[in-house]
Amino acid sequence: MAHRIAVIGGDGIGPEVTAEAVKVVRAAGVDIDTTDFDLGGARYLRDGEILSDATLDELRGFDAILLGAVGTPEVPPGLIERGLLLKMRFDLDLYINQRPFVGTAPGGTTPHEFIVIRENTEGPYVGEGGVLRRGTPHEVATQGSVNTRLGVERCVRYAFELAASRERKHLTLVHKTNVLLFAGDLWQRTFDLIAAEYPQVATAYNHVDAACIYFVQDPHRYDVVVTDNLFGDILTDLGGAVSGGIGLASSANLNPARTGPSMFEPVHGSAPDIVGTGTANPVAAVLSAALMLDFLGESDAAGRIRAACSALPGTGSTSDIGSQLAAQVAG
Ligand code: IPM
Ligand code: MN
Repeated sequence: MAHRIAVIGGDGIGPEVTAEAVKVVRAAGVDIDTTDFDLGGARYLRDGEILSDATLDELRGFDAILLGAVGTPEVPPGLIERGLLLKMRFDLDLYINQRPFVGTAPGGTTPHEFIVIRENTEGPYVGEGGVLRRGTPHEVATQGSVNTRLGVERCVRYAFELAASRERKHLTLVHKTNVLLFAGDLWQRTFDLIAAEYPQVATAYNHVDAACIYFVQDPHRYDVVVTDNLFGDILTDLGGAVSGGIGLASSANLNPARTGPSMFEPVHGSAPDIVGTGTANPVAAVLSAALMLDFLGESDAAGRIRAACSALPGTGSTSDIGSQLAAQVAG
């Protein structure tokens, strides 16, 4: 049976890199039935739709969603990000954002693979807070971080399951418990409680500022990292920067309960400055498609795609790279 995939190319280089990802998946011999959804800043400018409830309901019927990138300079910043990307994460309950990295310590030569698990539906992202006396000298703005026991626990539990399934079986909690007393306490207590269920998993804790140093200077200490939504956003850009650049960084927005489709997207943005030049690196989108195949039970094809990406011989245009990969992944 073909996997039914909703493809949202989006804006800027999004459609270019997504087309290559689809090409490589097909070349790997996986039967996919794709439906294109015209969403993003350009669509919004045309008829005002960002992501209607009707479109969201349509998306619910697919096995997975492959997303390129969204956002265009002509639309006020944040509108599409919140109305499309975050709406999908929240409404489809994509509570895990899984982002793998390959880091090499300074002066070292051995690349090392580690994974960040970012909570994807809570924290400051939910939009809690408000503003009073806006534009006056007495303006007050608050923006709370929402952390629920259920939300933290399901994320931490996913991270423990993942760590337990890996060779090294090591999980690091990253937070800022020395300052964020309430949220930090909930995360730490939940982490400790779940840890007792996984005696085979070794654990560690790092404050987020220290983790930034270790990501750069000593990534080998990490196997699986679990953290909240905002820390995870920042740390995974850093992870991308220290592991070959954001052009290689892939991500999976997962609904592990499988009550609906999960969504797969490169970490990078729409890069409107290079659209149409053929210089966008499609590898992040291709690796995101490989994460999709893992989740769909096509791990053999996913492995071949990852192997092709890490052995990519040369550079070239967006479509040249896609074609080189496609030529290598045939099963
Ligand atoms: C990401 C992005 C998004 C986020 C933006 C576009 C809202 O930076 O996926 O990391 O902050 O989560
Ligand atoms: Mn980000």
